[in-house]
Amino acid sequence: MNRNRQRLIEVLENAFSQSEKIPPEDMVFSYRGILYPSTLSSPETFEALKSFEARSDDVILAGYPKTGNNWLSEIVKELESADAKYTEEEMEERINAEKKLQTFPCLEFGDPGIYERMKKLPSRRIIVTHLPPHLLPPSILQNKAKILALVRNPKDTAVSYYHFYNNLPLVPSFPSWNEYFAAFMNGKLTWGSYFDHLVEWNKYINHESIMMISYEELKENQVLGMKKIADFFGFSLCEEDFHIIAKNTSFQAMKEKSKETHGKFGDILFRKGVVGNWRDLFSAAQNEEMDRKFEDSLGGTKLAAKIKYDVYCKA
Ligand code: A3P
Repeated sequence: MNRNRQRLIEVLENAFSQSEKIPPEDMVFSYRGILYPSTLSSPETFEALKSFEARSDDVILAGYPKTGNNWLSEIVKELESADAKYTEEEMEERINAEKKLQTFPCLEFGDPGIYERMKKLPSRRIIVTHLPPHLLPPSILQNKAKILALVRNPKDTAVSYYHFYNNLPLVPSFPSWNEYFAAFMNGKLTWGSYFDHLVEWNKYINHESIMMISYEELKENQVLGMKKIADFFGFSLCEEDFHIIAKNTSFQAMKEKSKETHGKFGDILFRKGVVGNWRDLFSAAQNEEMDRKFEDSLGGTKLAAKIKYDVYCKA
């Protein structure tokens, strides 16, 4: 079950120590008008990304930062392992292949040679990305790799990203919530505007190889959410498996073992794990500003209904 945690910890801690030597203005770079962290990626990696060759059995997990990507990826890894029933030897082989990557399989992280090395990973590859659909390499849709797209209500996403920005040494922190809020609304954060991401995902909401899942629906009923995911990827699990996985991937369980799974990054990542934390930081004016922006960009769309904006975001 332990899919090479050590590598994730090493990559992150290496990035943390590199970032200590970088002035804040160089912590991010811009590629095609969008910011990314320079300790994790580069414009050359983005150029090389176009050559990524997807397989039809790849599992692609896509979500804007702070929408619950680490939770979803843990859930999907557990579902996939329970379905595949790898022997210890097979698991060992997989871990060794992943070690040779020299990073973890986040699509846009690493050096430009990563896409050659990814060819050597055994199937099924589970690949995470923060990129929206129009920026994904073309082979993903062409080769019909399945994409599970994760969304979260924008108010909690904004608050989660604020704390992350101010605690993560890889990106420059903001002097105040108000300044950060303006940057979130204008897409001046790494991976760009969350509203633009949602608008792009909404265009693909009925695509046959894409399924959308929301953070909130997993919080409402994790077992039901996991059953939908298993169905989409064709994983076959018994009822008991779902309950065991829900227990292993609860916020409390993941937070408790975070030192072992995520090293120092664990303290930054596992913050509150709740729905509605935005109420602590949003002013009445910011609340209205975001309601207007959401209505203008996504009002009446299927994705707005999926996010249940009216349930989770109205004052
Ligand atoms: P908060 O900052 O609101 O607590 P990402 O993995 O995309 O960076 O998302 C991080 C968010 O997911 C954080 O939200 C974190 O607490 C939450 N999270 C992580 N693991 C979780 C879990 N098992 N259950 C619920 N939320 C979780």
